[in-house]
Amino acid sequence: MNLLVTGGAGFIGSAFVRLVLATQPGVRVVNLDSLTYAGNLENLAAAAEHPGYRFVRGDIADQPLVESLIASEKVDAIVHFAAESHVDRSILSSKPFFDTNVLGTLSLLDAARKTKLARFVHVSTDEVYGDIDPPHEADEQFPLRASSPYSASKAGSDLLALSYVRTFGLNLSVTRASNNYGPFQFPEKLIPLMISNALEGRPLPIYGDGLQVRDWLFADDHCRGIWAVLTKGAAGEVYNIGGNCSLPNIEVVHRILAATGAPESLLTTVADRPGHDRRYALTSAKAERELGWSPVMNFEEGLRLTIDWYRANPGWVQRVKSGAYRDYYARNYGAR
Ligand code: NAD
Ligand code: TYD
Repeated sequence: MNLLVTGGAGFIGSAFVRLVLATQPGVRVVNLDSLTYAGNLENLAAAAEHPGYRFVRGDIADQPLVESLIASEKVDAIVHFAAESHVDRSILSSKPFFDTNVLGTLSLLDAARKTKLARFVHVSTDEVYGDIDPPHEADEQFPLRASSPYSASKAGSDLLALSYVRTFGLNLSVTRASNNYGPFQFPEKLIPLMISNALEGRPLPIYGDGLQVRDWLFADDHCRGIWAVLTKGAAGEVYNIGGNCSLPNIEVVHRILAATGAPESLLTTVADRPGHDRRYALTSAKAERELGWSPVMNFEEGLRLTIDWYRANPGWVQRVKSGAYRDYYARNYGAR
């Protein structure tokens, strides 16, 4: 099988590329990534030597490029990760989210339709369901109630992708995963930001009361779920992929403080995020039942592995936290 992976230089995309190259002999991977601030070829240093791997720098919105890659690389399936992925950045500036997440996805879908591509997996998020009152959990039929420009752009792309199944018969499935964590995650999201700040002795900024709840999924578990959807999922079906690990943010941050040995005095309450979703909760019973997938990593172990990785890779952290990151940090946190 020849795969076109989009966004393979990002956090989850690179975990997927590493997983496929390590576990699926005979599968070739072409990674199409435009290398935004979140794309980092260091994440794929090991893969770069693999004979079944090729990197192409380019924009998913460049439809002629996508079509020519599908033809020249004899692509059988697209696994589509590329996105603007961070809620806070979507609040600071929304347009790039619609350019990539909606129009970029449209370009891939049109390229897939024109070339009669055999299979397409669209990687999405549980954030499209919006916040959910306890004790409810979203299944795949739950209404889409996006709260942020990020989640609105993902909900838009989900609907667009599913419309190509109904209208054009594309063999496409959608995945909706909960919050991922693990090595190589850009330190703008909660867990890597708190770990790297704790290791550097910097303040840990908690939005509002810190009682917002997220479900935590180790990225490798997510990638195994995407592989299961790619190989066993049905056209037009949506599959939730969760970590069975719901925690309030403040609890996550306390565990990071305890595991890194950083002092509690680093905890800092800052102004809340506008439109902040209070609670995400989903059930992945369908993926468990129909695909035989379930998460295997427990949070304590996953967090320990993740902290160990950030401790062992200060050079990676320093390089991604230089330059533009400092401007982003000042813009997002300076006014709080
Ligand atoms: P990320 O921000 O780490 O990486 C995104 C990658 O996409 C980067 O390598 C970037 O260079 C690339 N990219 C962005 N715009 C592009 C464009 N126009 N053309 C080509 N490449 C482009 O994101 P992530 O956290 O790895 O998320 C990957 C996917 O998983 C996204 O679709 C996201 O919505 C989804 N998702 C993420 C999470 C999470 O917790 N991070 C949870 C559920 C779903
Ligand atoms: P984040 O990692 O941005 O993911 P998402 O908003 O997509 O769920 O944030 C996870 C939770 O952590 C969310 O409730 C916001 C909160 N948060 C903070 O309290 N402080 C921070 O500095 C960040 C980045 C997030």
